[in-house]
Amino acid sequence: MHDALRLEIRHHQALGERLYRLDLAASDGATLPPAPPGAHLALTLPDGMIRHYSLLDGADDGIYRIAVLHERDSRGGSAWLAEQAMPGTRLIASGPHDRFPLDEHATHHCLVGAGIGITPLVAMARRLHALGASRELHYLVRHRRQAIFAAALAPLFPPGKLHLHVSGEQGRPRLEALLAAPSATSRVYACGPASLLDELEHIATEWPAGCLRLERFHNAATPSDAPRAACEVILDASGKRFTLAPDQSLIDALEAHGVAPPRLCCEGVCGTCATPLLEGDVEHLDAVQSNAEKALNDLIYPCVSRPRGPRLVLDL
Ligand code: FES
Repeated sequence: MHDALRLEIRHHQALGERLYRLDLAASDGATLPPAPPGAHLALTLPDGMIRHYSLLDGADDGIYRIAVLHERDSRGGSAWLAEQAMPGTRLIASGPHDRFPLDEHATHHCLVGAGIGITPLVAMARRLHALGASRELHYLVRHRRQAIFAAALAPLFPPGKLHLHVSGEQGRPRLEALLAAPSATSRVYACGPASLLDELEHIATEWPAGCLRLERFHNAATPSDAPRAACEVILDASGKRFTLAPDQSLIDALEAHGVAPPRLCCEGVCGTCATPLLEGDVEHLDAVQSNAEKALNDLIYPCVSRPRGPRLVLDL
């Protein structure tokens, strides 16, 4: 579990198109942990909400830089960070969380970012440029003026390898036509709206396993309407067992038995509560794993997921 970070906003800048850049430093001047490319911070906002923001670089100079989109339907988090937070505002955070890792051993890297989903890819692009790795980027926006990071990204790619797709001018690109089927040693990294990521997951069913890596910041999964039954939960490592009631949350039950994994978002988004799964049919409702990873059925996120059968064995 990451220790809480006490941060202070050092710089707050409007970038245009409802996008803001915030630079955060340790409020006590301490050295902040470095951030691997693709990592994010979980910020606790004044109303207790936890929101996740990708880091724009590796924070080698001790400053965490994030971009915040003031969303029109903001539940408060992005609106507060955009309109009320200012230099000197203090924040509690955890991280950097690294659940969208760059595979530096891949032979080719294809980055696909739409809208604010470009932010983790900015950090990845910087790293790939530094490594001299084979790389390309597809940057999808509705209007050209929304491509806020295009100028900063352009020098990080060889000529012809940064593709800007403006759906308001050219229509929505067909992803299938855009992305050649990757080799088994290539990686495709994507972040953006659920519709884009769902489509990519569908296309990737034809690709070699493990090529596609996704980062989702919202969990759109909804539980099935199927009636629920009680389940016997066996904790292999600790030798404990208990019965999970049909209406009981798995993570709450684990906590009641003193074996709960750490939790953060409680929405199946952050990946903190990942628990090794040894046996049992599960309704996977997290937004962390791809469909292919869910099919492996070797991890469960008990803050949202739950057993579908009469018996579940966890490595706890
Ligand atoms: S606590 Fe975030 S995925 Fe479970």
